[in-house]
Amino acid sequence: MRLNLFKCIYCESVGHIRAFLVKLVQFLRRNWLRITVFVTFLICVWPNRYAPHYPYIPTDEIYDELVEKTTQNVSHQMAGKLSCDYNEVIKENHFMYREPYISTLLDGSDIRLGGEWMPSKCAPKFSTAVIVVYRQREQQLNAFLIYIHNFLRKQLIHYRIFVIEQYDQKPFNRAMLFNIGSVYASQLDFPCLILHDVDLMPMNLGNLYVCTQRPRHMCSSLDKFRFNLLYHGLFGGVVSIETKVFQFINGMSNKFSGWGGEDDDFYERIKAKNLEICRFGPDHSQYTMLKHEQELPSENRLAFLRNGSLRYNTDGLNSLVYKEKEVKLHKLFTHVLAIT
Ligand code: BGC
Ligand code: MN
Repeated sequence: MRLNLFKCIYCESVGHIRAFLVKLVQFLRRNWLRITVFVTFLICVWPNRYAPHYPYIPTDEIYDELVEKTTQNVSHQMAGKLSCDYNEVIKENHFMYREPYISTLLDGSDIRLGGEWMPSKCAPKFSTAVIVVYRQREQQLNAFLIYIHNFLRKQLIHYRIFVIEQYDQKPFNRAMLFNIGSVYASQLDFPCLILHDVDLMPMNLGNLYVCTQRPRHMCSSLDKFRFNLLYHGLFGGVVSIETKVFQFINGMSNKFSGWGGEDDDFYERIKAKNLEICRFGPDHSQYTMLKHEQELPSENRLAFLRNGSLRYNTDGLNSLVYKEKEVKLHKLFTHVLAIT
């Protein structure tokens, strides 16, 4: 009796399963097109999807691409010391964007006034001026300074943080502020510039904050763009460029006030001098963007972009006019207040 009952239940469930499978197959047959479109859409919008489809320097070739150069005072101070080793940092490429690095400044006693640091145990091979353009984003600046000092000290390079603040009410002129920053950095003999937005946090320690032989787009794998590179000519966010190359291309245009276009113009300037840019791979170029409202694109950016090539030699470092309101040396950064 019991056995019969069991059999019966068993038969019923097999019947149900079979019926279900038949229905499923019918459903798939009828809707295959919709399903394909839906799955493709899902793949496209899937968060964290890598698109490593851009040319980049393979990890084991990164070291050979770096430009070894320091400020003169560092090479004097470090004479006789063993050079720092960077191969391990590049290869191990630790993921850094995690506690405690993002929330607390870890032992800041070795950071010099003005936001300068160099390793004490070995002689650094690189000196970098990190130029951060800024206005009215105090929380972001705070978060950036804490994290970037924790991050950069682990890279064993010599660096100094410059914050260039636009001290007026005109539309934000990102490119002009970078031009201004380059003036202060080159006065202090920095051979390498990193032009940095305040809201971008590098996540991979192997993304060395030093210059490569070619100007480098450093944030090709940004979470805001689901870690995709939007277009090959994207050259905004964070870039590194040798000071002498920045000067050679006459810096950036001073004309792009308001959001957008200035980085595209910068890219065109580089190409116009027959120079190429480069990138590290996506796993060395991940950044996270701190949240903020999207600015309205400026109306005249496209017009300036179109006729940009007429102005490369006359609009830039050689036409830079601004007023220095003040330069303050803070514990974590050199603060330049500029009226544009
Ligand atoms: C703008 C650039 C900007 C990029 C990514 C482009 O349309 O011209 O300035 O960096 O979009 O947001
Ligand atoms: Mn931003």
